[in-house]
Amino acid sequence: MHIAEVTVAAQPRVAEHLLNMVRGLSAITDGFSIDQMAHALQTATRAERAGADEEVIVASLLHDVGKLISVPNHPKIAAEILKPYVRHDVYCMVAYHQDFQGRWYYEHLGMDPNLREQHRGQQWYELTEQFADEWDQKAFDPDFEPENLEHFEPMVRRVFAHAKSI
Ligand SMILES: [Fe+2]
Repeated sequence: MHIAEVTVAAQPRVAEHLLNMVRGLSAITDGFSIDQMAHALQTATRAERAGADEEVIVASLLHDVGKLISVPNHPKIAAEILKPYVRHDVYCMVAYHQDFQGRWYYEHLGMDPNLREQHRGQQWYELTEQFADEWDQKAFDPDFEPENLEHFEPMVRRVFAHAKSI
């Protein structure tokens, strides 16, 4: 009981660790036109300006934090971080976003650009398509002016304040 109480009291550290991970993305560019923190801010800004709800905005901000650890499996790393705190469709949006992103570059890697088709009919398909095509894929614009991280900090703290499931 004591451990449970202390753990609940320590919950705010989760959001702070994640915000530090977003800051850490500024060290990764990997050949893109902007660094990964700028990409995260652009993606979240585009989601917010399109009218997305807070869980979707926060997931957009965090969707690539897995790249801090390992690029090939980065979607699932971020998705599992988000899972207890967001709806199932938001979890799936992050978990499968790479299959949707593939439309824009997999042909250059000798891979199938239509991997998204395996997910057609899923309840989260349209959200993930909107995320990939309208927000994530477009969020490498050096001239775009996103909101800064401070703008998103209260949202991250609210979403990660309580786990909905374990
Ligand atoms: Fe991305």
